[in-house]
Amino acid sequence: MAIPIGPLMLLCLLVSFFLPSFSQQSCTGERFSQNRIYSFCNSLPQLSSNLHWTYHPANSTVDIAYRAPQSSNGWIAWALNPTGSGMDGAQTIFAFFDSRNAMTVVSSPITFANTTVTNSSLSFKIYSMASEFSNNVMTIYATIELPKNSTKVNQVWQAATTFSNGLPSGHPISGPNVLSKGELDLLSGESSSAGSSRLHRKNIHGVLNAVSWGILMPIGAIIARYMRVFKSADPAWFYLHVACQCSAYIIGVAGWGTGLKLGSDSKGITYHRHRTIGIVLFSLATLQVFALLLRPKKDHKYRLYWNIYHHAIGYTIIVLSVVNIFKGFDILDPDHKWKHAYIAIISTLGGIAVILEAVTWGVVLKRKRSVGSDKSHRGVNGVNGRQHQVV
Ligand SMILES: *[C@@H]1O[C@H](CO)[C@@H](O)[C@H](O)[C@H]1NC(C)=O
Ligand SMILES: *[C@@H]1O[C@H](CO)[C@@H](O)[C@H](O)[C@H]1NC(C)=O
Ligand SMILES: *[C@@H]1O[C@H](CO)[C@@H](O)[C@H](O)[C@H]1NC(C)=O
Ligand SMILES: *[C@@H]1O[C@H](CO)[C@@H](O)[C@H](O)[C@H]1NC(C)=O
Repeated sequence: MAIPIGPLMLLCLLVSFFLPSFSQQSCTGERFSQNRIYSFCNSLPQLSSNLHWTYHPANSTVDIAYRAPQSSNGWIAWALNPTGSGMDGAQTIFAFFDSRNAMTVVSSPITFANTTVTNSSLSFKIYSMASEFSNNVMTIYATIELPKNSTKVNQVWQAATTFSNGLPSGHPISGPNVLSKGELDLLSGESSSAGSSRLHRKNIHGVLNAVSWGILMPIGAIIARYMRVFKSADPAWFYLHVACQCSAYIIGVAGWGTGLKLGSDSKGITYHRHRTIGIVLFSLATLQVFALLLRPKKDHKYRLYWNIYHHAIGYTIIVLSVVNIFKGFDILDPDHKWKHAYIAIISTLGGIAVILEAVTWGVVLKRKRSVGSDKSHRGVNGVNGRQHQVV
């Protein structure tokens, strides 16, 4: 059996490259005082902070907990910006130790024109605000009215140690302190700022699975079905088929693993069908690997049954894979170009299969005729090969 060294190395590279991102979603285990529990959390890509929240559609409010490391002489802030992105117009909640050395929380709109922090109301209603400090970590708790009941919001967050008149004032104007902003989808838990680990992992999950289950496996099947008809391609087709499917399996299992991890991290939503199909796919593909190991010899009496089994499972895997990839597109909802690209690839493969189907039938029929006209010619192998594939 050919060992697919190239794809294996590629996989190791992929895994070592992406593994660090698995540990980034560290917010899921966090605990809060007064047994506050939130349905979502997001590790924000800057300032080592994270946001936990629960959205209440019935009264368009959201409970948030924003948590960031900070020493007792600094401040942290979290804002929604209903009118733009970034600091200009940010409706901000600050937490810090006040002049009497008590942890306190104030709200203040911030604009480019006036960056002075005041203790004033925001453009939307705040139902409650609180803050706490413990082990050099500050937390802001708030329940706010969601402006226009819009579940895709722009958030901004900040941390610094400079004050003026006892109120936060100014922050570093480079690096993480200016990158700390982004869009947040309160329903799906996605935040789209650069480096957002969860979205990043969903994309990795999508790419690994689309490439392995969705592209490599159909190519492997095409190789087996059509190349074997040409005697000159024997046994090359077999090794190509095995190499293709083994690398698809290895990459596919990696993609499957990322999916399981995503599922276990997603507290709010479970995509039951996508998950179930994924698990069925993994089981069937693993069976195929065993099928390879248990393959009877070509002239063994059970070989025909083995072929039926191998082909039936193989085609089932391909159909289920394509179905699940489209389900994945619906869940991840990436830029339409990705879905279009996949549709283009899979239709091309389908077109190639149709053409090869016609060509190889032509070859086989011709071979059959020449067998018929010349009884001494032993061209039966090709025909047998074909009959096996037709199963
Ligand atoms: C909003 O509704 C939820 C239930 O859906 C309730 O638990 C919460 O207290 C309400 N919040 C406010 C501010 O009324
Ligand atoms: C907010 O939007 C959600 C979903 O779009 C809807 O179900 C809910 O009724 C809305 N709530 C209010 C108070 O408008
Ligand atoms: C900024 O706004 C505050 C409160 O509204 C006000 O007291 C202050 O004078 C303003 N500063 C500038 C520079 O406009
Ligand atoms: C902010 O204003 C409220 C009243 O509007 C007051 O109770 C609170 O102490 C003020 N906080 C600070 C830090 O000045």
